[in-house]
Amino acid sequence: MSAKSGKIRTQTREKAKVLRDRIDRPVVVTGMMGAGKSRIGRLLAQALGLTFIDTDSEVESAAGCTVADIFERFGEKTFREAESRAMRRALESGPCVIATGGGTLMNAGLADLVADKAFSLWLRAEPDLILARTAEQGTRPLLRADDPGAVLRDLIAQRTPVYARADAIVDVHDAPVEKTLHDVVEALHDFFFKA
Ligand code: S3P
Repeated sequence: MSAKSGKIRTQTREKAKVLRDRIDRPVVVTGMMGAGKSRIGRLLAQALGLTFIDTDSEVESAAGCTVADIFERFGEKTFREAESRAMRRALESGPCVIATGGGTLMNAGLADLVADKAFSLWLRAEPDLILARTAEQGTRPLLRADDPGAVLRDLIAQRTPVYARADAIVDVHDAPVEKTLHDVVEALHDFFFKA
């Protein structure tokens, strides 16, 4: 670990400690696939001492198979119904950190419910970064297409107005994860201490 990233980690931990008692609702981490929602969400939950809920993992545990298997065997509609149920349940959990799937907030009623009940944060990443990360991982059924770049651009266009309703936006670059975590904690701090 470099001296700089060590300093960022210490600052982040200190700020997270102060924040912990202020957080009175679920913190929802949203954004496109590959933006780092699950990774950052888990680290954020650890830093805050809150429970972490990942809607994709909830769906997978309930179904006993992967998201890709659900798409393949039962279709996207079945997956969307399952993720809606998982998200609605997660939002009843009180203060916690929830990482959504990239399409979760597009399900009927969920963006309004999040605006009403949660603090939401959009991890915003450039299409090239998303494409590079998802191509490397190869696990996203929606991108198993002849032209994944075109699919991605289309999804980004549909989803941006919904993501943009977030209470805070953090730009994700190809940078160490502690830098993004630091920016996320700063954004939460600004929000929960602004009043
Ligand atoms: C999806 C994103 C995935 C997963 C599913 C559909 C989407 O989650 O829910 O493959 O519609 O963008 P991640 O955003 O965690 O990759």
